[in-house]
Amino acid sequence: FTVDWNPGMAEKAGYDHFMLKEIHEQPEALRRAISGRLSIDNQEVILDELKLSSEELAGYERIYIVACGTAYHSGLVAKYLIEDLVKIPVEVDIASEFRYRDPLVSQDTLVIVVSQSGETADTLAAVREAQDKGARVLAISNVVGSTIPREADDVIYIHAGPEIAVASTKAYINMLMVFYLLAIRLAQIKESISQEKAVELIADLKNIPNQAAQIIKDSEELFKEFAGDYAEHENAFFIGRGLDYAVALEGALKLKEISYLHAASYPAGELKHGTLALIEEDVPVVALATQKSVLDKTLSNIQEVQARGASVTGVVLNKKEEVVDALDHVIEIPETEELLTSILTVIPLQLLAYYVAVEKGCDVDQPRNLAKSVTVE
Ligand code: G6P
Repeated sequence: FTVDWNPGMAEKAGYDHFMLKEIHEQPEALRRAISGRLSIDNQEVILDELKLSSEELAGYERIYIVACGTAYHSGLVAKYLIEDLVKIPVEVDIASEFRYRDPLVSQDTLVIVVSQSGETADTLAAVREAQDKGARVLAISNVVGSTIPREADDVIYIHAGPEIAVASTKAYINMLMVFYLLAIRLAQIKESISQEKAVELIADLKNIPNQAAQIIKDSEELFKEFAGDYAEHENAFFIGRGLDYAVALEGALKLKEISYLHAASYPAGELKHGTLALIEEDVPVVALATQKSVLDKTLSNIQEVQARGASVTGVVLNKKEEVVDALDHVIEIPETEELLTSILTVIPLQLLAYYVAVEKGCDVDQPRNLAKSVTVE
């Protein structure tokens, strides 16, 4: 009796790839991100690690978020959240752009840099650039004691645990979780939302890890079955509005990184200004439609691509909509506050990219030309 075994397999805990293992670790990772950051009565977010006082935090009228890759995409979600809850303008910039121009930051700006590894060269340069201009820098990172958190003035760790796969999954959703916590904290300090609303959001947030586990289960079955359909194509499109658009960008990146499909994400309302010309028979489109305030608009965009023969996979909050019924594949997101959907909507997109990559025989954990951490320019 022999058992085929190597240390790599043991580290993967029975999963075929680190990426799949890390996707499955997400509910637990989310619990760690929340742990110790809520008051015992669940009335308040507590971010004890911040050296910034509540008064200092309340004083900022402008936020600048700077990052690369997936971390940058977490910043795009944060812009919607913070502007909605805290009612202050948030600018999001790619670190390699920020560092080479003359960004408009000063003492009055809180600069938030996001980096899983804490070592990305462009993001580190952005920290120094912002500090030179007198701004206070808050880092959001996964790796304790890495360079960016050490050089930043404040740090919030996301506690995702070690992430091995080059394509980031659990770090992304934990970045989102930290941004949710920070946005609620800022809103509570600035009293930009009622205490009642804050308590509702906190209750919904606490539910997200269990809902994440549910959606992993539901969408994995589906994507195992039809990833092959995507693998035959060279292009795929992701559409959504508002927060859904920000998440769609991350979905497209995942598919590019590990499945080598050309994938592009568009705000659904922008399709008619060019991209619609590319939609023809059978082209795969992933449509995110979880934002109730723009649902009718998104549904009519879905009809536009369907009318041109696209094969549409919908990620929706409610399967009962007429348009949704007519979709080729549907993933339903568990009911939650509209603002909190992002963590849940990205999970099916991660699994889609994973199963397409597997179907194509790609090297899922080590995609060609890419590195987990880019410490040189
Ligand atoms: C590399 C990785 C990406 C990551 C980006 C930023 O390109 O392949 O997955 O999003 O760097 O990394 P960071 O560690 O700064 O979040």
